[in-house]
Amino acid sequence: MTHADDPLADPEATAARIPGLLHVPATARNREPIRQVLAEFLPSEPCSVLEVASGSGEQGLWIARGLPQVTWTPSEATPEGVAAVAAWRALLPALHARFLAPVLLDAAAPPWPGPSVDAVFVSNLTHISPWPTTLGLMKGAAARVKPGGLLLIYGPFNEGGRFTGPGNVAFDADLKRRHPEWGLRDREAVEAAAAAEGFEATGRRMMPADNRVLAFRRRCGGVTAART
Ligand SMILES: C[S@@+](CC[C@H](N)C(=O)[O-])C[C@H]1O[C@@H](n2cnc3c(N)ncnc32)[C@H](O)[C@@H]1O
Repeated sequence: MTHADDPLADPEATAARIPGLLHVPATARNREPIRQVLAEFLPSEPCSVLEVASGSGEQGLWIARGLPQVTWTPSEATPEGVAAVAAWRALLPALHARFLAPVLLDAAAPPWPGPSVDAVFVSNLTHISPWPTTLGLMKGAAARVKPGGLLLIYGPFNEGGRFTGPGNVAFDADLKRRHPEWGLRDREAVEAAAAAEGFEATGRRMMPADNRVLAFRRRCGGVTAART
């Protein structure tokens, strides 16, 4: 596939020529840094990833395409959201064997039906949803991630109860204007919620624009798997 006929090469241009295709500009900036962090944490042998809250789906497609060992299942909370992901997926038929059809999944309503996976990945959900959605994410992931598997969460987080930069102060205020139960979460509160469901913090990475990836590993019968 050349640059000219690759739908992911310039997603804005792709969306401009396909009426109704959902495009989130931030994904074009975030997708490669996130892919690199996932490459670091995920196993190098064949593995499965369930993506919660895939949004448009274009970010997941980019990440999955660049991680050839991964079979990726995207998901969204509503039928309209699932259709939006399916529209992007339809543009990349060569990936269909590894980027599966999107499924309907409400993070706030675990357990989520489906097979066990090696990892659950989610980006930009914890602050753009009420706190019970994050609690649901932990419970749902605990029931789907294999013992020793991963939960990888991307987004902005506070540290020690403080904003990590001025951009996040303004972002949090804007989120709360949009919905009183939205807003940046404390990393420590997210870690405590994960721990309550059997996930141990196994690493975190600083990302552009004051974002983070928080990585958790599901304990195996009380003992965290050796791989870090
Ligand atoms: C800011 S967007 C992030 C989308 C994508 N992950 C990204 O980073 O571009 C938040 C997404 O979360 C989804 N969402 C909100 N509440 C959800 C829930 N309870 N379960 C699953 N997805 C949810 C929304 O439909 C939306 O697509």
